Amino acid sequence: MKIKTSIKSFRLLLVTGIMLIAIVWTMNCMTTKTTTTAKDPEIEKKVNALLTKMTLQEKIGQMMQQHLGDELNDATKEAIRKGQIGSFLNAGNVEIKNEIQRIATKESRLGIPLIFGRDVIHGYKTIIPIPLGQAASWNPELVEKGARVAAIEASSEGVKWTFAPMIDIARDPRWGRIAESCGEDPYLTSVLGAAMVRGFQGDNLADPSSIAACAKHYVGYGAAEGGRDYNTTLIPERQLRDVYLPSFHAAVKTGVATLMSAFNDINGVPASGNEFTLRQVLRNEWKFDGFVVSDWTSMTEMIAHGYCKDEAEVALKSLKAGVDMEMVSQSYLNKLEELIKSGAVSEKLVDEAVKNILRIKFRAGLFDNPITDTSKPSVILAPEHLAAAKDIAVQSMVLLQNKNDLLPVTKGKRVAIIGPLADAPLDQMGTWVLDGNAANSVTPLKAIREMIGESNVQYAPGLTTSRTTETAGFAKAVQAARQSDVVLLFIGEEQILSGEAHSRAFLNLPGAQEELVAALAATGKPIAAIIMAGRPLTFRTVADKVQAILYAWHPGTMGGPAIADVVFGVANPSGKLPVTFPRTVGQAPIYYAHKNTGRPPSASELGIPLGTPLDPRGFTSKYLDVDFTPEYPFGYGLSYTRFEYSNIQVSAPQIKMGGKLTVTAEVKNTGQVPGEEVVQLYVQDLFGSVTRPVKELKGFTRVALQPGESKTVSFDLSTDDLAFYDINMKFTAEPGDFHVWIGGNSAEGVMTDFAIVD
Ligand code: NOJ
Repeated sequence: MKIKTSIKSFRLLLVTGIMLIAIVWTMNCMTTKTTTTAKDPEIEKKVNALLTKMTLQEKIGQMMQQHLGDELNDATKEAIRKGQIGSFLNAGNVEIKNEIQRIATKESRLGIPLIFGRDVIHGYKTIIPIPLGQAASWNPELVEKGARVAAIEASSEGVKWTFAPMIDIARDPRWGRIAESCGEDPYLTSVLGAAMVRGFQGDNLADPSSIAACAKHYVGYGAAEGGRDYNTTLIPERQLRDVYLPSFHAAVKTGVATLMSAFNDINGVPASGNEFTLRQVLRNEWKFDGFVVSDWTSMTEMIAHGYCKDEAEVALKSLKAGVDMEMVSQSYLNKLEELIKSGAVSEKLVDEAVKNILRIKFRAGLFDNPITDTSKPSVILAPEHLAAAKDIAVQSMVLLQNKNDLLPVTKGKRVAIIGPLADAPLDQMGTWVLDGNAANSVTPLKAIREMIGESNVQYAPGLTTSRTTETAGFAKAVQAARQSDVVLLFIGEEQILSGEAHSRAFLNLPGAQEELVAALAATGKPIAAIIMAGRPLTFRTVADKVQAILYAWHPGTMGGPAIADVVFGVANPSGKLPVTFPRTVGQAPIYYAHKNTGRPPSASELGIPLGTPLDPRGFTSKYLDVDFTPEYPFGYGLSYTRFEYSNIQVSAPQIKMGGKLTVTAEVKNTGQVPGEEVVQLYVQDLFGSVTRPVKELKGFTRVALQPGESKTVSFDLSTDDLAFYDINMKFTAEPGDFHVWIGGNSAEGVMTDFAIVD
């Protein structure tokens, strides 16, 4: 008995010890510094030395990325041995990955390790909110932590490279991949994209817990015409440089290891064969020294684009443009040798590509450390990872409406939980979850039952999925509502309705969800709608029937506990929209940083009912059947308290070119509870050598305030921050007058003026 007890306590000690080591290790790995970008001469020497030993076939092998499922067959082993593969995406479990590295490093002529890529987009096994949700937190530290958690988990299973962050600017909610983006704004996306790069790569790419990031999709992919995925983009160079390129430039400056060339064509030239974006901008102007991987078959798709007539032309144009590694298709493997031998293209270009790839492999420590240590305690779903996932989910939630302060719900009330997404563990994870397991998701139903006790909860989904039109469950849902004090209604979109190739032409709630809302509203019970979705939806009729609307995106593994905390007031919502919400799909694309036009409508023209054409009135830039303003502006989000802005000041009314000023304002919590506010700084350059946006975000910060407390918030603004591509395509600020606002969203705030003088 005694022995048994001591064995038990020894086991307990051992387990606790291992857990402690895991926690300390994980926490150490969770703090990162900025990655360095300077070329390391030692690494350059090694790259050059290795290159001189390589045959042309081995060089081309490095430029090939193939997909591998869960099986490593003899033919693949032989290809690895011959040095014909530089990278795999996916490639089975960690044991298979280790076996591949063993073959590559021990049995191939030069022993060059592979690099394993995978789509670790919003979490690996601990799934964090979709990137659009993360962006709603406007919290770079948290977003960095989320990427760190993903890196720690993914690297522990042999993944050394993620195809993230996606930093495409997305201004059209029809586009399914808006879910994977940080939204519509170049500044917000630049800040958050850089945070993700830091989180994935850590302060040293060679650290076993670091994974190489991949800024994608370079470039303009989010400008797909009509919001239809993969579609053509037409982006004038000035707009490309002012709007679509800055987030990539920020990632490059942060030291991102790789970029992915996109599927779309830009002004007639596909992104994977685009010398202007890949060679001129990325290499010549930005001095990027990592490598570019094509998107999945995006190179050979240039044949369908009508840009290349065959595989040989694909290889030629991609290499000339500067794509270093080909994902899945095999034009390099099949055609490069022939092209070089015929003199159609110089081997120097191949050497450059291979050097870029080897440089990253060296920086990633793959030559010293190709094998993943599987003896360490598991870090998957570690408690700190789940806690981080919950924190991010809490801060991602945006309170859009709260009539009569229905939220937070006081504990002790009888609650009806209704709706197809209340208990949908897969859907709450969101679009990109190759490794996420729905069994690990804590749903809102589960979390709320745990929080307020089963006896206070009645659950009746009403609809089995978000898309179904089968209404047989309505009766039970209505009955549950009648027997409760408040209805928590979980509606929105399933995960399958957003993401790659999942564009929608309608943005309304699918299936019979609107009918469900109407049936519940008829009971007269107060309703809080929690909308889980991968994009901005349009839901005016629902908003009219419910008291509160909390936008929860697809919140990930810990979505349930996060929602429970917000709904019951354990946490105060502080998320702000990273993207404009239209009133109707007909307004898309819609974004706050638009131009004024020569005939801007005025506030007196507001009040047009949706869908009812009025007599044409006035000749301004608007619609006849819906207000010209959005449903919810960029940056919008409520709190359980109120914030008031006052006393905006600039440190100087005028600044010289090259100078800077400080803008300050007071923010006061005028409500009853503590809260956090995302304070936003916008400017308008009134007149330019080219027309300028009506507002541009230039800064933001989170401020925590107790009831009655006020703080002075201050932002530094230099003339460099006000630069844009002028009429001569020079990146510069221009002398002239500016408005500046500090406020809680892009449509409100306190305003003053300043000027730049020569
Ligand atoms: C295609 C997607 O566009 C890209 O984002 C992803 O990383 C690759 N497939 C690899 O799965």
